[in-house]
Amino acid sequence: MCVPSKVLTNADLEKMVDTTDEWIRTRTGIQERRIAEPGTTTSDLATEAGREALGQAGLKPQDLDLLIVATTTPDMLFPSASCLVQQRLGAANAVCFDLSAACSGSVFAMVTAQQYLATGRYRNALVIGAEVLSGFIDWTDRSTCILFGDGAGACVMAPVERGGILATDMRTDGSAAELLYMAGGGSKHPPSHESVDQRLHFLRMNGAEVFKMAVRRMAESVKRVMADAGLTPEQVNCFIPHQANHRIIESVAKFADVPMEKVFENLQRYGNTSAASNLMALYEAVKAGRINTGDRVVMVAFGAGMTWGSIALEW
Ligand code: ACO
Repeated sequence: MCVPSKVLTNADLEKMVDTTDEWIRTRTGIQERRIAEPGTTTSDLATEAGREALGQAGLKPQDLDLLIVATTTPDMLFPSASCLVQQRLGAANAVCFDLSAACSGSVFAMVTAQQYLATGRYRNALVIGAEVLSGFIDWTDRSTCILFGDGAGACVMAPVERGGILATDMRTDGSAAELLYMAGGGSKHPPSHESVDQRLHFLRMNGAEVFKMAVRRMAESVKRVMADAGLTPEQVNCFIPHQANHRIIESVAKFADVPMEKVFENLQRYGNTSAASNLMALYEAVKAGRINTGDRVVMVAFGAGMTWGSIALEW
């Protein structure tokens, strides 16, 4: 995992927009988030997280044959952030591509890597979720700027003798695409004076609708993946939800019959890091001793698209 060193607290935000620490904590659970310094890119954070994951796995960059970066904020439209990470790591034997699934990025990229590994054609995959969202946030819009932060999480995936991924679930609903989007910068509104004047290069969101859909879809997905894996909530040791909002997480846990004691949260310190969120949480849950060898883990995510999905795994 890699996060920028600069911390932006709720108290700092009180000086920037009409909000309060109390409002942000009670509505979201977030206390602070990390913000990249100007010039720090998604591939910078992704490379550091990827390097650490490789070290933990005891692999050299040349051992990788697959490298996926999940991100909504690549360094540039092309080449992909994954190619820039490949260059920096020296992972010359890996095929590299980015995956765009917004906040579901970590989960979608892990499921994608699993499919490649399952064919037997690929042996060692590096999966990274990374974002520098701070450059795409309207820091005058109090309804969105309090939510997000920058960071990267990574994991190495390879075939295992026992355990590993037990079941997966990936879903999308493009009919709800207008709930969360950034209009500018793509082929619809290429960068122009007009697109800047109209503030099209910032994220826009219908928070209340996203909230409702996130709760319903993540609860359904958790139940489905546990059923497919043959697990009851009692048999799961740790749940790793997308770290968007404590109230969303509590509601998902309630509807999926998951006790909150089993749910890992770090959104208090990082906010919503979108595609990096689940992998950053998985990393810190393992470091905190909340996940040990043989434990059953369920990850669940939801994001723009709308996209959502889950993974049940044995660590
Ligand atoms: N500080 C103070 N007041 C605020 C702030 C703020 N930062 N933001 C909004 N308000 C005000 C609103 O203007 C509104 O005032 P009004 O009643 O006078 O109009 C009031 O607070 C209530 O606003 P709501 O939008 O109804 O507040 P809600 O309880 O829904 O919380 C929030 C808003 C936190 C954005 C919530 O809807 C949410 O978390 N939605 C999910 C969004 C999300 O997580 N998106 C990330 C991507 S998708 C995903 O990751 C799941």
